[in-house]
Amino acid sequence: MRLDRYLESRLGCSARSVRLMLAARRIRLNGAPATDARQQVSHFCRIEADNEVLQAREPVYLMLHKPRGCVSATRDDKHPSVLGLVDHPQREELHLVGRLDFNTTGLLLLTNDSSWSSAIMLPERRIPKTYRVETRDEITPEYAERFRAGIYFRHENLRTRPATLEVLGPRLALLTLCEGRYHQVKRMFGSFRNPVLALHRESVGPLRLDESLAPGQYRELDAAEVACLRGHAPPDTEPVT
Ligand code: URA
Repeated sequence: MRLDRYLESRLGCSARSVRLMLAARRIRLNGAPATDARQQVSHFCRIEADNEVLQAREPVYLMLHKPRGCVSATRDDKHPSVLGLVDHPQREELHLVGRLDFNTTGLLLLTNDSSWSSAIMLPERRIPKTYRVETRDEITPEYAERFRAGIYFRHENLRTRPATLEVLGPRLALLTLCEGRYHQVKRMFGSFRNPVLALHRESVGPLRLDESLAPGQYRELDAAEVACLRGHAPPDTEPVT
C-alpha cells in the first residue's frame, strides 16, 4: 500500500493534510523521516506521526515439531491445536503455512506474514516436501515407478505430479512431493492398498526440521531460513524452483 493512502485512512485526514505532514517531516518510516508520499509500506513497517506510533508490528516466523494427536488449526473445540503449543507474545496473529493430518508429525511453519506464507504455498513454485513414511506392508520397487508416473485420484480427476520415492527399508521410505493434495501421501500408498502407519514431514524446500526440537517444541527461524523459502536461497543451498 502507498504511504499516503495508509496515512489518509489511518489518520482519517485528507490527501492535502498528508502531503503537508510529509513535507513538514512529521512522518517517520522505519525510524527516518518519510517524504515520498507514493512509497510502498507493508504491515511490518514502523510508522510514526508526530512521535505517535501508528504501526509497529514485528514479523514472526516459527518452525514447530508437530506431535501426534494435534490438529493443524489455530483453534479446535475437541482436540489440542498446534497454536496451543506456542507461547509467544504475537501468538494470536499467527497462521499456519500448510497443514498436517492429526497423527502426522514433523515440520510445520507458522507466521504472521501472509506474503511469506503465500509465496511458499504458490502451487507453481512446486516447493518439494519430504515425508518419512512407515507402512504396514512391504514397499516394492514398483512403487517408485508408479509414484514417478503419477497416481490417478478419481475424486479430483487428476494425476499426481511426479514424486520421488527413496526406499530405506522393507516398510520405510522417504517420499518427496511437489504439491499438497488432501491426504496425498496416504492416498498414494492407499493405491497399493498399503496403509500408512506413521507419517513424518522432514523438510519443506531447503528447510529441514531441526532435530533438536522435541515433538511439541518450536523455535524462531533465522533470516537466511526465512529468505530461502521466500525464494532467495542462501549461498550454500540449491535455489528453490
Ligand atoms: N499427506 C498425508 O496423507 N497426510 C499429511 O499429513 C501430509 C501429507
